[in-house]
Amino acid sequence: MVTTEHALLVKGLKKAYGDVVAVDGLNLDMKVGECFGLIGPNGAGKTTTIEICEGLLDRDSGDVEVLGMTWDANGNQLREKLGIQLQDTQLSEKLTVSETLHLFRSFYVKGRDVRDVIDAVQLGEKNNARVGTLSGGQKQRLAIACALVGDPDLLFLDEPTTGLDPQSRRRLWSLIEGFKATGRSILLTTHYMDEAEKLCDRVAIVDHGRVIALGTPAELIESIGATIPAPPPRASSASLEDVFVALTGRTLRDE
Ligand SMILES: Nc1ncnc2c1ncn2[C@@H]1O[C@H](COP(=O)(O)OP(=O)(O)O)[C@@H](O)[C@H]1O
Ligand SMILES: [Mg+2]
Repeated sequence: MVTTEHALLVKGLKKAYGDVVAVDGLNLDMKVGECFGLIGPNGAGKTTTIEICEGLLDRDSGDVEVLGMTWDANGNQLREKLGIQLQDTQLSEKLTVSETLHLFRSFYVKGRDVRDVIDAVQLGEKNNARVGTLSGGQKQRLAIACALVGDPDLLFLDEPTTGLDPQSRRRLWSLIEGFKATGRSILLTTHYMDEAEKLCDRVAIVDHGRVIALGTPAELIESIGATIPAPPPRASSASLEDVFVALTGRTLRDE
């Protein structure tokens, strides 16, 4: 049993795809029990960083320690402890919700009761429905269920709420908060600043493959709050979105 205070330690991480430098000397230090947010424009290198931490992509250089272990030395042990929701989850359309969860459950030695997880993501009524018949929000909740069914210590969520309606988003928020309340760790990316502000203990703003700002949402807001012109009628109420725009120069970057 490995004990560590760090859920993730990333030092000087670099990764290029041919000429495109996706991650350019990125450092992260995430503690056990934290919900840590990676925010940044499209193409900033968030997904590449996460997929390296998940053991799905090889790095070019740098060090990555996950729950006190490395992929090189402890790959099998690590896989048991992680829950992964990819930015683009492709589940088999022909399987039912229940079959999908049983399949993912079979990847882990220990895990949760499949029916409990289905209920936790409120897909009980869809238990026997084929994945191909689910709505976008339901598919997204199923993807999260697949990430939860191994009862992970560390949960990776890459844009879990993109494209969801407000109700589904809030349902996911309470799932994430429930997971966090058990003392376990979450690495989350999102384009929604209100979401990062609500869920994350600390946030790293990533641009061009590097962390350009790091802190609690309140610290980040305070760090630039004074320089934000106060728009009436919400006088001097800077938000995390203001920090994001001030540092990266735009809210949306299409790749
Ligand atoms: N498989 C790939 N092949 C080539 N370039 C890629 C690949 N995946 C990502 N990239 C490029 O790497 C950069 C970082 O992408 P990504 O990690 O997906 O960023 P983010 O998740 O922050 O949007 C972008 O310029 C993207 O186009
Ligand atoms: Mg991404």
